[in-house]
Amino acid sequence: MKKVQRHYDEVAEVYDRHYANDRGRVYYDHVCDLVLEDLPAGGMLLDLGCGTGLFMVRYLASGGDAVGLDISRGMIARARQRCPACTVSVGTAEQIPFRDAAFDAVASILAFSYLQRPEAMLAESFRVLKPGGTIAVCTLGRNVLTVLVPVIYRIGEKVRIRRVGMADFGEHYYGDDEIAALFASIGFEDIRVRRCSFAHQDLHEAMFSLARKVEPFVEQRLPRLAYNICVSAKKPD
Ligand SMILES: C[S@@+](CC[C@H](N)C(=O)[O-])C[C@H]1O[C@@H](n2cnc3c(N)ncnc32)[C@H](O)[C@@H]1O
Repeated sequence: MKKVQRHYDEVAEVYDRHYANDRGRVYYDHVCDLVLEDLPAGGMLLDLGCGTGLFMVRYLASGGDAVGLDISRGMIARARQRCPACTVSVGTAEQIPFRDAAFDAVASILAFSYLQRPEAMLAESFRVLKPGGTIAVCTLGRNVLTVLVPVIYRIGEKVRIRRVGMADFGEHYYGDDEIAALFASIGFEDIRVRRCSFAHQDLHEAMFSLARKVEPFVEQRLPRLAYNICVSAKKPD
């Protein structure tokens, strides 16, 4: 079993608490709102790395239907409870168990960086999207701050800090040109890359408030300091 799969199986019961306090909610809503902006409302969505279904219920609220796939059995069990109207299954985003052209949209929230074969996930997404369908991904971006994160996580593991997502999974932090080139290599078009997130939920309250205030400025004027990266693109008609 992969390390990332084992980790999310272990934290599945407590994962939602991670986003349950004010800071977590603000952080997560911000990411979801940006991804939702890029997706067609009311379509059939495939959420890759759907976790406990937090994004799928948001998509349903916007009038669509959602199918979720996640490598962690524990996370899928929670998603099933949260979203009885969604169809969810255990599996890897690198080999999607659905027929060609089945979906209007594919989304992936904070999971893409874990993939060992991201090009396989994108090729599979391309296959299951209808012509003209949309893909929207939000994941970890590379910048001067995030280059330090794997080092911090490795130290955290050594001193046995156990928190959601905090471990060294060999996750990849993407640069803007790098991720755009990856999407283009699969055949996606109308590729749009944006940076988001400066206020991280794990910041101390006072630091979070300050970071939240300057977040719009950072995202627009100093995007390289924002540490998530959101990409949207279309499968040609
Ligand atoms: C940080 S969580 C995000 C979950 C969810 N998207 C959300 O927004 O709350 C990352 C998720 O990616 C899943 N994951 C990691 N590698 C995966 C893979 N190869 N295929 C499918 N899911 C994967 C993990 O099991 C975990 O549920």
